[in-house]
Amino acid sequence: MLGNFIYSNPTKLYFGDDSLKYLADELKKYGKKVLLTYGGGSIKKNGIYDDVIKILNDCGKDVYEVPGVMSNPTVEKLYEGCKVAKENDVDLILAVGGGSVIDYAKGVSVSAHCESDPWEKYYLKMEEPNNKIIPVGTVLTMVGTGSEMNGGSVITNHEQKLKIGHVFGDDVMPKFSVLNPKYTLTVPKYQMTAGLFDIMSHIMEQYFSNTDDNTSDYIAEGLMRSLIHSSRIAVKDPQDYEARSNIMWTATWALNTLIAMGKSTDWEVHMIGQAIGAYTDATHGMTLSAVSLPYYRYIMKNGLEKFKRFAINVWNVDPKGKTDEETASSGLDELEKWMNDIGVVMNITDLGVKDNMLDGIADATFLLDGGYKTLTKKEVIEILKNSKKG
Ligand code: NZQ
Ligand code: ZN
Repeated sequence: MLGNFIYSNPTKLYFGDDSLKYLADELKKYGKKVLLTYGGGSIKKNGIYDDVIKILNDCGKDVYEVPGVMSNPTVEKLYEGCKVAKENDVDLILAVGGGSVIDYAKGVSVSAHCESDPWEKYYLKMEEPNNKIIPVGTVLTMVGTGSEMNGGSVITNHEQKLKIGHVFGDDVMPKFSVLNPKYTLTVPKYQMTAGLFDIMSHIMEQYFSNTDDNTSDYIAEGLMRSLIHSSRIAVKDPQDYEARSNIMWTATWALNTLIAMGKSTDWEVHMIGQAIGAYTDATHGMTLSAVSLPYYRYIMKNGLEKFKRFAINVWNVDPKGKTDEETASSGLDELEKWMNDIGVVMNITDLGVKDNMLDGIADATFLLDGGYKTLTKKEVIEILKNSKKG
C-alpha cells in the first residue's frame, strides 16, 4: 500500500428485510418538507411506494413528488426537480429507486440552490458546490451502481450527446440508505444482469491499476469471488434471497470508495460505456459488458502481472505449464464464459451502435490515465470496432 489517502464514508446503512422500519428514525432528523423522487412506476406496482408514503405521513411530513426519473436521467429532468425542490424549499430529498433515481437526487441536491447552470458547473466544468446542498436519503430498489453509498451522479445531455458523471464529496453522499434485498426481487432479469456486470466492472476498474501490493486488491478479489458465486445462483433463481442479499452488499462495497484507497483506478471502460450511453441510451451495465473484453484484451500486456493474478486468484486458473501471457489470457477467457453464463450483452451492435457513430462515441470518451494504458482516440475506435458483432 504505497498511496496516501484520507478515508471517510458518511452514509449510514440499514440492511436486511426489515430495514425500512428505520426510515422513520432517520426522517425525524430533518425538517417537514420532503421531496420524494422515484422512477417510472415500479415502486407503485410492488408496494414500496405505499409503504414509504405511510411512513412519511406517520412522521407528519409534507411530501412533494418528482416521479418519472428515467434510466440515465437527463439534464431536462434535473432542471424539473430543481424547480420543485427550490420553490418548496425542501429539507430532504428521499430517493426511492435504483442508481438513476439516486444519482438524480444528488444532482438536484447540489443544483436546486445553484446560481449558475448546474450542467455547465458540475458536469462540464467539474466544479464543486459552493451553495446550499439539500441532504439526500435513499431506499434502494435495484442493485449495481453503488450510488447508495457514494457521491456519484451521472447525468445525460442528449442534445450535446454527452453522459457525464461527477463524483461529489462527503457532503453530497447519501446521509442514509435503506437496503432491503427483498426489494430487488421484482427487478426484471435484464436489469438484474446488467447490474451484476456493473458491479464486476466497478471492481475491475479499481483492481486493474497500480503494481504495488495493496490491501484494496485483496478485498476486491474477495468481492469478485462472492459476486461470481452469487450471480450464478441468482441467474438460475432470481428469487434466491441469500444470493440477492449478497449481491446487494457486494454492489455497495464495490463502489463506496473503500477499494479505491491507495489506487489510481482506471475507469476507461466506464468512459467508453458512458459515451455509448450518450448515443444509444442503452442500459448502463450492458454498455460496459459490450466493451470490456475487447478493452482488457487490448491492454492486457501493459498490466500483465495483474491480469495473471486476476486469472489465478479470481478464476482459479492453474498457471502450471503456461506462460504468464497464457495464464492472463485464460483469466479473460473465464471472464468471458461467466459473462455468457449470466447473459450480458457482448457487443455494441446489439446496443444499437452504428458504424457512423463510432467517431462521435470516441470523441465523447474521456481518456483517463489511471489504468495500465492511456488510450488515444484511434485506439478507442479500434476497441469499439473489436466490440462489434461478428
Ligand atoms: O423506473 P422504474 O419503474 O423504477 O424501473 C426501473 C428501471 O426501469 C427498474 N427497477 C428499479 N428497481 C426495481 C425496478 N423494477 C422492478 N422492481 C424494482 N425493485 O430498473 C430499471 C433500471 O433502473 P436504474 O436506476 O436506471 O438502473 P441502475 O441502478 O443501473 O442505474 C443506472 C444509472 O446509474 C449510473 C448509470 O450511468 C445510469 O445512469 N451510474 C451511477 C454510478 C454512481 N452513482 O456511482 C456509477 C455507475 O457506474 C453508473 O454510471
Ligand atoms: Zn457502472
